[in-house]
Order: sequence, then C-alpha cells, then structure tokens
Amino acid sequence: MSATSDLFSKLLVQPDFFPRLPQQKRLYEVAKVSIHLGQLSAGSKLPSSRELARDLGMARNTVIAAFEQLMAEGYVTSAQGSGTYVANLTELKLAAQVMPAPLASEVPGAETTLLSRRGAHITAFGAGERFEIFPFVPADDDFSSFPFKVWQRLQNRVWRDIHPDLLDYGRAGGYLPLRQAIAEYVAASRSVKATAHNILITSGTQQSLDLCAQLLADVGDTAWVEDPCYWGARRVFEACDLNLHPITVDGEGMALKPADLACDPRLIYVTPSHQYPTGAIMSLARRRELLDVAVRKNAWILEDDYDSEFRYTGRPLASLQGLDKDERVVYLGTFSKVLYPGIKVGYMVVPAALADAFKSALYDLQRPGQLMVQAALADFISLGHFATHIRKIRQIYGSRRELLRKTLAGEFGSQLNQQVRISHEESGLHLLIEVPDHVDDVALEKLAAESGIEVRALSAYYLSLPVRRGLLVGYAYVTPDKIVYYGKILASVIQSGLS
Ligand SMILES: Cc1ncc(COP(=O)(O)O)c(C=O)c1O
Repeated sequence: MSATSDLFSKLLVQPDFFPRLPQQKRLYEVAKVSIHLGQLSAGSKLPSSRELARDLGMARNTVIAAFEQLMAEGYVTSAQGSGTYVANLTELKLAAQVMPAPLASEVPGAETTLLSRRGAHITAFGAGERFEIFPFVPADDDFSSFPFKVWQRLQNRVWRDIHPDLLDYGRAGGYLPLRQAIAEYVAASRSVKATAHNILITSGTQQSLDLCAQLLADVGDTAWVEDPCYWGARRVFEACDLNLHPITVDGEGMALKPADLACDPRLIYVTPSHQYPTGAIMSLARRRELLDVAVRKNAWILEDDYDSEFRYTGRPLASLQGLDKDERVVYLGTFSKVLYPGIKVGYMVVPAALADAFKSALYDLQRPGQLMVQAALADFISLGHFATHIRKIRQIYGSRRELLRKTLAGEFGSQLNQQVRISHEESGLHLLIEVPDHVDDVALEKLAAESGIEVRALSAYYLSLPVRRGLLVGYAYVTPDKIVYYGKILASVIQSGLS
C-alpha cells in the first residue's frame, strides 16, 4: 500500500472525519485536509484511482469523483497520461481564503473541549456536513424553479421606493402588509384563524420552535414529540433542556397511550397534516383528542405545517389550529419549501393572548430585521406570483413523485407490497420506502451513499426503539432523467439488502 493510501485509510477511520457523508465526499475531505496540513506536499503524485480504490476498498468511480472535485477546486492537477499531482497551495489564493483552518474536530485526534456538554451533543448530529445536492435528499425543494426575474423586479422596486423604517430591526413582529397577506393566505388555504395581529414573521420554523420552547416551557419541562420525529424540532427542544417524551405514530398520527397521559407535557409538537417523516395524516378523532388533552393538561400544541402546499390531489386539509376553540395551538408555517430554503422566512400564528409577549421576545432575543425581503415577499403574494408558483411546482413535484413511484415499482416487481411498501399518500416532498423489520435501513442508507444517492434511514428518526424501517427518498429536486437513472440504482441497493 502506498504512503498516501496509508495516510488516507488512517484518516478515514477517524470518528471525527464526517462519518455520515458519502464515501466520495469523505475521500475528498480527507485529501483536502491532508493537503492543507502539508501532509501531502505540493508536486507529490497521488496514487492512481485504481490503486486507491483497491487500497481503500472503495468503488473506482467513487475515487474518480473525489479526484474530479479536488481538481475542479484546484487542489490537484492532472498531466495527460501521467497522473494526478498535488497543486501548489500558495498559488491557490482563492481556495486558501475560502478554506478556513481545519476545525479542532476535523483534525484527527484533536480533543473537543471548547463546547459545553449541551453544545457537544448538538454539534454531534452535524446535519450541515451532509451533502445536500445529491439525489434523493428528502425534504429538499427544487429552488431552481423559483421565478428569479420576478423576485429581482420586486426587490428592485422595494429598494427604489425605499422607506428608511424598512432598514430597522422591526419591532412589531414583522412587516405589516406581509402579516396581512399571510393571514389571508392561511385562512383561505388552511382554515387557520389568524389576523395580522397574531402573526409573527420569523427566520423559519427552527426559530419559531426556539421561541416557543423558550417562552412557553422551562428547563426540565416535558415536550411530547412524535416518534419518529423531525430532527430539527428535536434538536431545538434538546438545546432548551426540555425532557422529550416520544409518542408512537401510527397510520392516524400521534397515538396516545395511557402511559403517555401520566407524563404531563408543557409542549406538544406535531405535524398533523403530513407527519414527518412517515406521511401519516392525523385523523379527526385524534385531532379532537389532542386538543382536549392540551386543555386538560394546560399544554401548548405546536403545529408544524411545513409542506401543506404540496398536496397533489384532493382538497387542502384543514389545520388543527382551525379546530381549536380554546386557543392552545401555535401554528407554524415556512417559505423554505415553497420558495427556497435560504429565504429564511417563516411565520407563526399565536393565540391572541401570546401575541404581544412573542413580539417583544422576538425583538429582544433576535433583532429580526429583514424587512426589505419581507416587503418584496408581501408584494410577491399580493400580486398573485405566489399562487402561480405554487401551482407550477405542485405540478412538477406531483409528476416527479409519480415517475419515481413508477420507476421503483417497475424495478421491485412482485416484491412490491410483499417485501417492500411505497408510501401512497399524494402529498409531500419524499416517498417512504418501507422494508421488513429485520433489514438494516442504516446500512442501506450507507450503501446508497456509495452510489452517490443521499437517502435517510427511517429508523434514525426514532427516539425510542424503531418500530418501522425504511428509507426516505426525496424527489422534488431531482430531474426526471435522474429519477429514472438513480431510481433503478436505489431499487437494486434495497434489493441487495432484502436478500
Ligand atoms: C418537519 C419540518 N418542519 C419544518 C421544516 C423547515 O424549517 P425551516 O423553516 O426552519 O427551514 C422542515 C425542513 O426540512 C421540516 O422537515
């Protein structure tokens, strides 16, 4: 084994080296850090892709893809026919500026003593390390279909007719015309009871949840969460030192048992319209039961309605908040999915009694600002562009969903519904492919990553022992040709796990 293969293989087994990333990305990171730390000097020759693949036990395509990325970023150069060489880093001015010194946690063997125990726990999850552009990352939307030109025009208009107030932090819970537009939108599309007064604009659901956790619960209070649960919500509650009580989800959503009722909640986090990640729609009986429990226990329900725009057939579902007669529900919405994630605009509809307190805390804790973006968004909605965009992407995602389902069903053949089940509800941004209990879905996730496919194991979303296993497969950001190509590879990965 060459010295370089030896160096890479030692680094790759370090637990700090991005263990959750696909092999190709890990190899790229390992090579990049070795170059930055001078462990691979300028001008030195890398082993051939064939040799590295053999020494590291990787597919040759994986090594080639990592080399290509290093080459594209200028870390290595290739001379026709004579191999791949480490570039001279001092010439790599741009990369050197962009690439910070390796974090302590990236340097193998380095101890992380900088963080609190809570901090270490939060950062251990490391979702930001994941490579978000591979097919089939669940929950990603196709932001390439966002109407950039319209948005640019609206933003230009806001800057042209600028009102100095819009450059301030904003104290009233967000830009009033946007709050009015959202109030109308959620009332019409989701039967949410809202006025501009009880709406706050936040930087997304994550921030809304954080505010709820800080303002409505104290350290050590209990939050009921769905099991399996959206990891983003879980992270926020853990960071606020809440005690998480997982409640099993079945085909009708959160299913309360007598033992659950013995553990009084302060917060109840639910995704009733389309449970994340299983896709279950909470039945009317369960919705009524939950509202009733919230009143009896003096708890707040946090209704995360993250993807209600993506219902491909039938009428939109009414919200849980719309059924609530006792003002126990905080309704959370986001523009991350329907526009693009980086817009960082979400909203919460809070019971009237909480509105002033939430606005005051939003200002004191966050200094929210971003009123210029909010003004453009208010125009985007009121001028009808939002409705047009929703119609367009609903059609695109609906057909991608169908294509993925058809491709997978064709590959699974008679295994479908015998060993493999594909979720059938007509909404959301991902399909759930369920496999029998004995199949290790985390191993399937890793195997898929070797082929450049980023799916997520259902079992990883559970807080308690997983009762179902499968893969979450996002389709919204995958073009039809890739859906067919990678869909077939994914099916064969799953089949290999079944046998
Ligand atoms: C269940 C759920 N809620 C909310 C969000 C969006 O959160 P944010 O508005 O913070 O982007 C996501 C994103 O993936 C999600 O899966």
